[in-house]
Amino acid sequence: MIAAPSKLLLADIAQTCSSIPSNFIRPISDRHNLHGLKTSDASIPLVDLQGLTGPCRSKLIKEIGAACLKDGFFQVKNHGIPESVIDNMLCVSREFFHLPEHERLKSYSDDPMKTSRLSTSFNIKTEKVGSWRDYLRLHCYPLEDFVREWPDNPPCFRQVVSEYCKHVRELALRILEAISESLGLESDFMNKVLGSHAQHMAINYYPPCPQPELTYGLPGHKDHNVITLLLQDGVSGLQVLRDGKWVAINPEPYNVLINLGDQIQVLSNGKYNSVLHRAVVNSNSERISIPTFYCPSPDAVIKPAESLVDEEHPSVYRSFTYAEYYEKFWDNGLNSESCLDMFKAS
Ligand code: OGA
Ligand code: NI
Repeated sequence: MIAAPSKLLLADIAQTCSSIPSNFIRPISDRHNLHGLKTSDASIPLVDLQGLTGPCRSKLIKEIGAACLKDGFFQVKNHGIPESVIDNMLCVSREFFHLPEHERLKSYSDDPMKTSRLSTSFNIKTEKVGSWRDYLRLHCYPLEDFVREWPDNPPCFRQVVSEYCKHVRELALRILEAISESLGLESDFMNKVLGSHAQHMAINYYPPCPQPELTYGLPGHKDHNVITLLLQDGVSGLQVLRDGKWVAINPEPYNVLINLGDQIQVLSNGKYNSVLHRAVVNSNSERISIPTFYCPSPDAVIKPAESLVDEEHPSVYRSFTYAEYYEKFWDNGLNSESCLDMFKAS
């Protein structure tokens, strides 16, 4: 008898197992300790962006600056992405991950340098323990360079995702202006320093997991980019490290969660820090989350803003191109030690 080929995608593995395969089991020291978890998210800063264009702008910039300084993450509402665009984005994502296996596999690749691909876990070529996740990763700016590579099933996929990407980019630019101002920089500082800009997105699909306490959807990590704008469906799973404790951030419909990535830490010369976060899974429900990773273009030179460097605050990081960082990120794997240490000034 010929053995059935092993499945590439977790969604298809998860369908058939009542306990998790051994390669997903984390060492005991690396499991999430549910007892130490704070579940209240009442204190997570929620910034109402309505006032960003009016007389309240400076007050909002202060709020954003305080959130960046203290937590490295905040939620926004009245952010300008229409609810229908968000509904359609979540809906088409679910439809994609519910397609038959042979249809999904058309997008499969384990090469992290491919600009559109469906994959599983994080980087199966380098990691030792798997993560309970499939993900579709798409480069999405400039749209016209990438949209032809995206899945064309469901038939409305490209149109719906393009629409979402355009709105998220506008939001990202407004937030980057606000963050620049909050650091005392010109409002177009980030815009200029990111070269011709890049935007990536992941559509994360976490299938229900028979033994969620033994594994992660995504282990603790910091994002590689400038800022991440996260959309979540109604299922909890995201946790953020805050004051040394893991805090569950339960999804609020239509709010977008912003977190700072490694590039902000470099550009702000360590004033703002990228934030450690992770995703846990559960045994009852699938979960979809959609981070947009707003990035510098590969050729952009990243280094601390000159006006944030002086005798008292020497440059913490050396300069590098984003392409250099991006490659290290995929090699390094997801772990709490981000690649930032490799880019310290000597
Ligand atoms: C990520 C991430 C969090 C989530 O994809 O980088 O942190 O809630 N996702 O899925
Ligand atoms: Ni992340």
